[in-house]
Amino acid sequence: MNTVYPTLITNDLRSELSKAIGGHPANDIYVLTDTTTQQECLPYLYSCGLSDECRVITVAAGDANKNIAAAVQVWEYLSSHGATRKSLLINLGGGMITDLGGFAASTFKRGIRYLNIPTSLLGAVDAATGGKTGVNLMGLKNEIGVFNPADRVLIDVHFFKSLDAHNLRSGYAEMVKHALIDTQAEWKEILAFNLEEVDFDRLRVLVERSVRIKERVVEQDPTEKNIRKALNLGHTFGHAFETFSHRIGQPALHGYAVMWGLLCELYLSFVQHQFPKEELLRLNYMMKENYGKLEFGCADYEVLYELMTHDKKNDEGFVNFTLLSGIGQIQLNCTADKELIFETLDFYLNT
Ligand code: GLY
Repeated sequence: MNTVYPTLITNDLRSELSKAIGGHPANDIYVLTDTTTQQECLPYLYSCGLSDECRVITVAAGDANKNIAAAVQVWEYLSSHGATRKSLLINLGGGMITDLGGFAASTFKRGIRYLNIPTSLLGAVDAATGGKTGVNLMGLKNEIGVFNPADRVLIDVHFFKSLDAHNLRSGYAEMVKHALIDTQAEWKEILAFNLEEVDFDRLRVLVERSVRIKERVVEQDPTEKNIRKALNLGHTFGHAFETFSHRIGQPALHGYAVMWGLLCELYLSFVQHQFPKEELLRLNYMMKENYGKLEFGCADYEVLYELMTHDKKNDEGFVNFTLLSGIGQIQLNCTADKELIFETLDFYLNT
């Protein structure tokens, strides 16, 4: 497997796009968008020199449409328009599009080249890099997929300027996670950033650093046998909160659920691995200021616990976590029982 992940964070998409395309014939370039990015992001790509002879494939927006039917739509379009093993697919969108397009490209004729151009902060710092591709099946997230990195990931902060405050914060939560698994210096920088008045030049610098953290982890363990599990920090509680929020009709963005999950998993880290209390309280303060809290009560603990036990990363009877014994001190394959998980939910509600 190719373990080089050439993600470029650029102010000059025109020139980087041209280099990435490298003279490939325009009528053999396929651009995958969803209905939203076709309207809102594709014109910018044309303004950066993308030829209007490129063929555009548009699928319905939203994670509910990240399914095998959408992959079939992409495969059928490619096949019926004469795409070959040499064709190029450009995925323009958030995580739904880069996951779907990466999967469709990786499997069409046993694999064609693809580029990711993420249009959300969340997509840029998470889904677009690292080579995880896939679609959902029967309500199970990313049930079908392959590891296969994009040829190039081109990140242009321009796209983030039109994101609303919630989507910006959602992406930022994954940057918080990257800093926590990295160094005290990164953690300090991430805490200092003002999400109320976003300085996009500064954000660009932080995005670059965040993506490099992810790349360094993925490079050591592309297929998540070991250290890549560090990227799951916050996600065991986080996925349960996310699913629960949808069930109660108050759907939370992924990054919000991750931020709430980070607080819980740093609490577990504090209890089990002496993670410093002052850092736990710093995260709590930052979370309350910027993300608020998911509303639930003790009566919901059983449901949340059930959601955690259904996570495919679990062994029998215990829920698996990645925890920290300090900033950047990763503890893989940790477990917690029901009693400790309930205690953690108490902490979340009462802190
Ligand atoms: N989203 C975590 C990873 O790519 O491994």
